[in-house]
Amino acid sequence: MKVSKRITVLFVLSVFVVIGIAATKPEDDFKNLKVLPKNISHDELNKVMHSFNDALGVKCNFCHAKPKEGEQHPDFASDEKPEKSIARKMIKMTNRINKKFFHGKTKVGEGKITSLQRDKKTVKEVFTGFECAFMVDGFSEWSPDDRVECFIDVPKK
Ligand code: HEC
Repeated sequence: MKVSKRITVLFVLSVFVVIGIAATKPEDDFKNLKVLPKNISHDELNKVMHSFNDALGVKCNFCHAKPKEGEQHPDFASDEKPEKSIARKMIKMTNRINKKFFHGKTKVGEGKITSLQRDKKTVKEVFTGFECAFMVDGFSEWSPDDRVECFIDVPKK
């Protein structure tokens, strides 16, 4: 009798663990990133957030809104708290400073050029020194002083 009880408890516990893992998984794709890279990994984002806590001597709820009903964690995607918006501005400012004074050595995105235009006409190529417009697939967060490096993919023979 005693033995089977313990087994049930263990079983119930392990079910909770499995549900716990399944339930936290969707948090991996973040819903409301406006300045950090959208494809940032969970680890990388955690590092950034913990560095905020350490630097400011605060907890996550300093910037993040109260949990929604029935939830335990702060509502990380919410923009309710002004502290979060201010932190966003600080991240933007740091990015700008890095770009301006450290020559923007940080990569902000990558993608295929989807439409190349010159004088509002779609073209296949543009000569050196001429102005042109283009879009990059999957990237739109441009800011002044961004630098673009283009490569042509040549299949190996
Ligand atoms: C100083 C303010 C600040 C603190 C403290 C902070 N965060 Fe954040 N957090 C932000 C900002 C700003 C963003 C949005 C970044 C963006 O827009 O790219 C964010 C975004 C997030 C997101 C992504 C939410 C989504 O779905 O878009 C998660 C998850 C997160 N924070 C977790 C944490 C955790 C966990 C802690 C504590 C260890 C923490 N944060 C502490 C400012 C903060």
